Amino acid sequence: VIRLLTDEEWRVLRALEQCIIKKGSSNIYTITKTADQPIDRVEFALTKLNERGIIKKKGSNYAMFTSGFDLLSLKHHVDHNDVSALGKIIAKGKESDVYEVLSEKGECFALKLFRLGRTSFRDVKRKRFSDRAELHNWITRNYQAAKREFESLGRLEGLTDSIPRAIASNRHTVLLEELRGIKLAERPELINPASTLREVIMTVKKAYANLGLINGDLSEYNILTDGKRAWLIDWPQCVGVNHPNASELLNRDISSILKFFRRVYGIYVERKDALSYVNGISRKLVIRRE
Ligand SMILES: Nc1ncnc2c1ncn2[C@@H]1O[C@H](COP(=O)(O)OP(=O)(O)OP(=O)(O)O)[C@@H](O)[C@H]1O
Ligand SMILES: [Mg+2]
Repeated sequence: VIRLLTDEEWRVLRALEQCIIKKGSSNIYTITKTADQPIDRVEFALTKLNERGIIKKKGSNYAMFTSGFDLLSLKHHVDHNDVSALGKIIAKGKESDVYEVLSEKGECFALKLFRLGRTSFRDVKRKRFSDRAELHNWITRNYQAAKREFESLGRLEGLTDSIPRAIASNRHTVLLEELRGIKLAERPELINPASTLREVIMTVKKAYANLGLINGDLSEYNILTDGKRAWLIDWPQCVGVNHPNASELLNRDISSILKFFRRVYGIYVERKDALSYVNGISRKLVIRRE
């Protein structure tokens, strides 16, 4: 579809997005004014976009399917030479879809498209919004989540290579360094579980001690591994040390990792020792066997 859309259709699609985000209405007049094109051309483009299943007329207003936002975002990444081809889907989660993409230079990246609120839609395949407020709410939540994740990863960049680098972000998407690993939740065999656990806790410490950042949703589901290395992913909800629940969240992040490694790999660290290590009170992290 990206190749099929005309410049005129892109312009009208962007104008519609602007109307949905900023204006009180998205009828033909506000879209025409925003697109700054003759009304008959705008009408023609809207008809085409409707036929392509990207937008939908609802009363006098036009609404957009999530595929419309996906297209706008992909087009942005294409125009910035960050994406040249879309590959297979890597993961379909509750809150995001992650695709493998190829850059102009032939690098493989992971494109994360936020899908917050997906479960509240009956028709998950072709999401349509029943009213403007719902659509507006979807945009706000998903655009902000991508922005927050991108900003946090930007701050974390260079600190450790156990957190993926973020290359770009636009609308509800974040372009990430692609990691070749599987979720720790799948309980893969680890070459040296103790050194993987050490890498995880050390990464938590680095983020906390250097930047005051706490992931806040850390668990075996947000750690990828290749059997040796470990990467901490999924940072949109991360918080700073000044957050009212900071210590509780840090505690929970650490507890869930420790519990998992103890249960699955039979190694453990006392929680207070891990916390002292992350807090910088203690310099040593002693990992024990059951
Ligand atoms: N940089 C990456 N490289 C490769 N795969 C990735 C990358 N980031 C995420 N993934 C894959 O996508 C999945 C979901 O990513 P993430 O945890 O960031 O999103 P999420 O919104 O929490 O999704 P879920 O609802 O499934 O938890 C990961 O479990 C992993 O399989
Ligand atoms: Mg996740």
